[in-house]
Amino acid sequence: MPRAKIVSVAGVVPPKVVTNYDLEKMIETSNDWIVERTGIHQRHIAEKGVTTSDLCYEAAEKCLAQAKVDAKDVDLIIVATITPDMLLPATACLVQKRLGCNKAWGFDMSIACCGFIYALQVGGEFIKSGAHKNVLVIGLDVMSSIIDFTDRQTCIIFGDGGGAVLLQPNDEKDNEDVGLIDFIFEVDGNGGDSLCLPAGGSKMPATQETVEQKQHYVKQDGKVVFKYATRKMPELCVQILERNGLTGDDVDVFIPHQANLRIITSAAERMKMPMEKVIVNIGEFGNTTAGTLPLAMHSALKEGRLKKGDLVLFASIGAGFSAGALLMRWGY
Ligand code: COA
Repeated sequence: MPRAKIVSVAGVVPPKVVTNYDLEKMIETSNDWIVERTGIHQRHIAEKGVTTSDLCYEAAEKCLAQAKVDAKDVDLIIVATITPDMLLPATACLVQKRLGCNKAWGFDMSIACCGFIYALQVGGEFIKSGAHKNVLVIGLDVMSSIIDFTDRQTCIIFGDGGGAVLLQPNDEKDNEDVGLIDFIFEVDGNGGDSLCLPAGGSKMPATQETVEQKQHYVKQDGKVVFKYATRKMPELCVQILERNGLTGDDVDVFIPHQANLRIITSAAERMKMPMEKVIVNIGEFGNTTAGTLPLAMHSALKEGRLKKGDLVLFASIGAGFSAGALLMRWGY
C-alpha cells in the first residue's frame, strides 16, 4: 500500500495584528512578561464577522491551486477546529460548498490542539487504504471567538489562523519512503477540567446566566497544562523515534505545536535536539490551537527549512488532555 504524502501546504491568518503592547492597554500585563513566559510577541485576530469557514476556504483554495488539483477531484475534507462557524452543519460542509468539491464528503474533528495531527493521520488512512486520491486536511481556529479578553491567563496566549494540506498517495517508485510513517496518539480525560469551555454544550446549554458568568469562554489552569505538556511531548517523541530505530539525530525537522516557547525548548532539550532543527513561529502567531502545525509547516517552507527527503517529527499536546507524535518523510 502506498504511503499518504503531503503535496501542498497553505497557511492563512487574518490581517489584523494585536501586539503585546496592545494587550497592555486592555489588561494588567506587560510585553516583557508575555515574551518571557510564552515567547509570544503578537497574534493575528479576525475582524468581527470573519468565520472559521472563511479562513478554511481561503487556505484550501490556495492549497488546491498550488497542487494544481481541481476542487471537483477532492474526495474528502476534514476540518480540525474547536471554533466551527456553528455546531451544525459541520464546517467541512460549508467549505465543501464554497470550494465546489462536488463529490467530496467530510467532517469536523474537535480535539483542540491535537486536531490537525489526528486529522492528518485519519486522512492518511483513507489514502493508504486506496479509498481516496485527494484528501484535504484543514487545521484552523478563530480562537478570538471563544477567548475572554479580560482574562490575562488565556487572552495573551491565543491567536487566529491555520492552514490546509492536500494528501495524495505516494506513487513515486524510487521514493517509496516518502509520506506518513508512524504515529502515537493518546488521550487522558483526567485533564479535562484543566482546559475547557464549560457552556454551550448539552451539559450547560446557553442561558442568560451562562453568558453573564462568562462560561462560554476558554478556562485554563495554565500550570497543570504546562506540566502535562512538558512531560508528555518529549515522552511521545522519544517513544516514536525508538520504536522506529531512530534518535533525535535522525530527525531533520521537528515541528511542535506552538503553545509556549518554554514547552518547545524543554521538549527539544530532552530529545537533545538543537533548536536549529525546530520550527518556531509562536512569536508571530501565538497559539492558534488546531492551526499551529499547518502554519508552522507554511513558515518552514517559506524559509526553505523543509526539503524533499527530510525526516519530520510532529508533536502536539492539548485539551482533553490529548497528545500525539507523528513521523513523516517529506516529499517535495
Ligand atoms: N501578565 C502578567 N502577569 C501574569 C499574567 C499576565 N498575562 N498571567 C499571570 N500573571 C501573574 C500571575 O498572577 C502570577 O502572579 P503571582 O505570582 O503574584 O501570583 C504570576 O504571573 C505567575 O503566574 P503563573 O500562572 O504561575 O504563570 P506561568 O509561568 O505558569 O505562565 C502560562 C502562565 C499560562 C503562560 C503558562 O502556565 C502556560 O503557558 N501554560 C500552558 C498553556 C498552554 O500550553 N495552553 C494551551 C495548551 S494547547
